[in-house]
Amino acid sequence: MSENIVWHETTISKVDRQKQKKHKSCILWFTGLSGSGKSTLANAVEKKLILQNVHSYVLDGDNVRHGLNKDLGFSDEDRKENIRRIGEVSKLFLDAGIITLTAFISPFREDRDLVRSLVEEGEFIEIFVNSSLETCESRDPKGLYKKARAGIIPEFTGISSPYEQPEHPELTIETDKLTIEESVAKVLQYLEEKSILG
Ligand code: PPS
Repeated sequence: MSENIVWHETTISKVDRQKQKKHKSCILWFTGLSGSGKSTLANAVEKKLILQNVHSYVLDGDNVRHGLNKDLGFSDEDRKENIRRIGEVSKLFLDAGIITLTAFISPFREDRDLVRSLVEEGEFIEIFVNSSLETCESRDPKGLYKKARAGIIPEFTGISSPYEQPEHPELTIETDKLTIEESVAKVLQYLEEKSILG
C-alpha cells in the first residue's frame, strides 16, 4: 500500500445506515464443498429476507469468478486471493448496512479466519454447509466431480485439493439430512436470536 494513502471517515456511518434500514448488517458466510448446497441455501435465505424488507445481497463463487475475480484459478494461492477480495467486498457491503450472503467453497480455515478478523465481533457468521463428499459427488449438478475423477479438472476440492472443515462455525447445516425449508429456518432463527433483523 502506498504510504500516501489516508483513511477517510464517511459522513454517514454504518450505524446510521443500519438505522435507516431498520436492521443490522452482517456477513452470512456459507462454506462447504462444491455441490453441498451453498448457493441454493443462500438464495433461499435471501428470498425470505427480501419478504421482510431486509436489504441483502448474494455473492456467489461462480458469478464473482466471471468478473471481479476472473483472473484467478484454483491453486491454493488463487483461492486465498479469491477469499481475501471477497472478504474486503463483504466488508464494504457490511458498512453499507446490507446483509451479505456469500457462497464460496472457501476451503482454507486461515482464509475464513482472515475475513472474520476484518470485521467486528458478531458480524461474521460462519455457516458450515455440511454435506458428505459422497452426497455432493452423487448430486454432481455441473458434472464437475466426474471430470475431476477423470483427471480433466485438476485441484478439485475434496478430490485433489483439500477442504478444511470449520472448527467453531456459528451454524452447521446438514443439507443431506434437512430439507431446504428446515435449513433456511435454522439460519433465520439464528438471525432472530441475535436480534439482527431488528
Ligand atoms: S474457492 O475455493 O472458494 O476459491 O472456490 P469458489 O470461488 O467458491 O468457486 C467454486 C466454484 O467453481 C467451480 N469450480 C471448482 N470448484 C472447486 N475446485 C475446482 N478445481 C473448480 N473448478 C471449477 C465449481 O462450480 C464451484 O462452484 P460450487 O457452487 O461450489 O459448486
